[in-house]
Amino acid sequence: MANLVSVERASLALGTAQVLDAVSLGLAGGDRIGVVGRNGGGKTTLLRVLAGVRSPDSGRVARASGLTTGVLAQDDALDPDATVREAVLGDRPEHVWASDPRIRDVLDGLLGGVDARGVGGLDARIGPLSGGERRRAALAALLVERPDVLLLDEPTNHLDVEGVAWLAEHLVTRYSSPSNAVLAITHDRWFLDAIATATWEVESGAVNAFDGGYAAYVLAKAERTRMAAVTAERRDNLLRKELAWLRRPHEQAEVPDRRGQCPHRRRAATAGRRRARRLRDEPARQGRHRPPRRLDRPGRPGPPRPRHLAARAGGADRHRRRQRRRQVDPPARPGR
Ligand SMILES: Nc1ncnc2c1ncn2[C@@H]1O[C@H](COP(=O)(O)OP(=O)(O)O)[C@@H](O)[C@H]1O
Ligand SMILES: [Mg+2]
Repeated sequence: MANLVSVERASLALGTAQVLDAVSLGLAGGDRIGVVGRNGGGKTTLLRVLAGVRSPDSGRVARASGLTTGVLAQDDALDPDATVREAVLGDRPEHVWASDPRIRDVLDGLLGGVDARGVGGLDARIGPLSGGERRRAALAALLVERPDVLLLDEPTNHLDVEGVAWLAEHLVTRYSSPSNAVLAITHDRWFLDAIATATWEVESGAVNAFDGGYAAYVLAKAERTRMAAVTAERRDNLLRKELAWLRRPHEQAEVPDRRGQCPHRRRAATAGRRRARRLRDEPARQGRHRPPRRLDRPGRPGPPRPRHLAARAGGADRHRRRQRRRQVDPPARPGR
């Protein structure tokens, strides 16, 4: 669906607040958008930018050519000296508006009948009307005008339950063609659910779009929040591991020494050699095996010899004496 209004990287600061921060979005034909967000979050400012009442500091707002836009602001701009007839029906002749079922429907739904008895009659002055009556008159004037794009700031304020239901039904039936669109800022969850094809949440200078009305928005937001928490937890875990790696004892760092060997590898090799030596010597220490005695070191006291080995030791002494004799006086070979 073609965009009726497009916003490209719009930024706007008011006072010290960055109300819109590089916001890009499009209001397409057939859209009925509900706008939500905390008070002071920037909803009205977004509406004013879309309406062209306020220009962004930077970025671009484009409208389809020949597009008509109607705005219901929070404070109406009706002329207090005008009559309800003038304010709502303009200069349309009675036979024109009285025969238009659409206009009759609006007068019935918002002003208590085609004679506007709910606000004191068609000839009542706007000035003395209450805030609620003025606002209903302003909304009626807007719906009678029938602009392509309807931008409503808190339209359900001052409407009773029947009035809210009537407005929701009117918007859904009259604003569903590809040539028009509605955007409504509201805190009324029922109204949002009844009209919205999508929900925009204005938060921290950004506009986050969700498909569907309030219920779908709440569910999607909960899911997004859950996913964000999972991602944040994964990132924290990774960060914890990286920090543990950075904080490991300095000597474990894999910095090669002058011999080109990493200290922890050298230590592991030394420990390995020590372990191998211990394993080799272990049986000897337990008496299961004794390493061969060094017989060529006289005077070195050894452990007491078991009796069954004593004969062998004597044999070793004899062998040693024989070897010494051979070195001094090698035996002559027979025949030489
Ligand atoms: N004319 C202004 N001058 C300075 N700050 C403003 C002006 N209008 C609005 N603001 C500030 O801009 C922020 C957004 O306001 P608004 O768009 O009215 O929020 P919302 O409609 O979501 O309540 C608020 O912090 C508000 O105080
Ligand atoms: Mg506001």
